[in-house]
Amino acid sequence: MKEGHQFNQYSPKVIDHFTNPRNVGEIEDADGVGEVGNPVCGDLMKLYIKVKNGKIEDAKFKTFGCCAAIATSSMLTELIKGKTLSELKEITNKVVTEALDGLPRVKLHCSVLAEDALKAALKDYYKKQNKENQDETN
Ligand code: FES
Repeated sequence: MKEGHQFNQYSPKVIDHFTNPRNVGEIEDADGVGEVGNPVCGDLMKLYIKVKNGKIEDAKFKTFGCCAAIATSSMLTELIKGKTLSELKEITNKVVTEALDGLPRVKLHCSVLAEDALKAALKDYYKKQNKENQDETN
């Protein structure tokens, strides 16, 4: 049978997060923003994080992509909220995918977008922090 993208290939959790995504939007005064593209398909994800006392206070996303990309983005924001910055190292695409009860094999590449967006947002956060620290010492 030809592999397609039928709805029934997706777990109920994937369908739930795709049809009712959590934390969609932007954070205007975000502490870190990660924007990444999936080279396989060209889909895009933008992740905004707000950090307070070393923890993710808020996270929002905008994803222009397939249902697996939207579901993983949504689950990612749910997983990272309230986590400390060091705990975020454990949030890989595998963790996000498992939290969604898996993805069809052909859609696994989509979950990489979420992991990459998190890495990019953290990189941006640390860059901004360094800049602020430098500005303060100057
Ligand atoms: Fe592009 Fe899923 S097909 S992220």
